[in-house]
Amino acid sequence: MSRPHTCFVQAQRIPWSHGLHGGNRRDVDSKLLSVDDEDASSTQVVRYPAGWRRAVPEHLSTHEEFLVLDGWLEVNGRRYDKHTYAFLPKGWARESARAPEGAVLLTMYYGPATYAPGAAAEPHDPKLLVEYVNPLTMDWDPGLVDPQLAKGVAIKPLRTDPYTGETSFLYCSPPHRVPPGMAKPQWTHPMVEELYCLDGEYTWGDLGVMRRGGYCWWRENVYHGPAGTETGYNLFVRTVNGPLVNHFATEKKPFTWTPEHRPVLPERLKPYGQEWPREPNY
Ligand SMILES: [Fe+2]
Repeated sequence: MSRPHTCFVQAQRIPWSHGLHGGNRRDVDSKLLSVDDEDASSTQVVRYPAGWRRAVPEHLSTHEEFLVLDGWLEVNGRRYDKHTYAFLPKGWARESARAPEGAVLLTMYYGPATYAPGAAAEPHDPKLLVEYVNPLTMDWDPGLVDPQLAKGVAIKPLRTDPYTGETSFLYCSPPHRVPPGMAKPQWTHPMVEELYCLDGEYTWGDLGVMRRGGYCWWRENVYHGPAGTETGYNLFVRTVNGPLVNHFATEKKPFTWTPEHRPVLPERLKPYGQEWPREPNY
């Protein structure tokens, strides 16, 4: 497991590349958010052009997890609209796929992103399959949030791995969530936390203001924060290498609404590390 700590980059700043990272699917465009140079697992924004289609069966020899950011994609006759989600385990058969109007997906590959024709040699593990989740049909559940976190936040669960406890979910905050007395301890996790800001703003007191399109690969035991939000936010969150656990420091650190923009990025992403401006609402 060797993806570098990335906290945070605005996906809008990263240029599109032809094909998936690794060279497969030359008829799509992608933005590489993070990649493991040992096992080739990656998180990519994948853009399927209007009219894209696969009429022949395909499979992957690794898991594919995705959340639709824009447009819609159809796989095996099932339509995935904006913000719908799937976890398609290794070996799962894709009989057909198409994106008549185009689609943009946040896609997590658990190994090389190499689609191969035909059926897999081994069938997929049905315990891992999450074929379709539509968060727009779900209620936000505040009861699923760690009680150490401030009130007002809530979760829509997407998946929990039955073997590892790794979990993916949407996490929302209402606006005007302010650390009490403008100070709070920093916190971290014993696992990796991956974040993608679907909408709103997430203010890191130590890193800057992450806006929609902001992405993190938050490595284990790296402290950040304190955090707050003026607008509220809707985040996609995934834990890697274990279930979600929050560890809080004891010392309170001051919070500011106007932190200096100083993200922590690997060399590859440093050219794209600029802030993304907020549109005025007047
Ligand atoms: Fe967290």
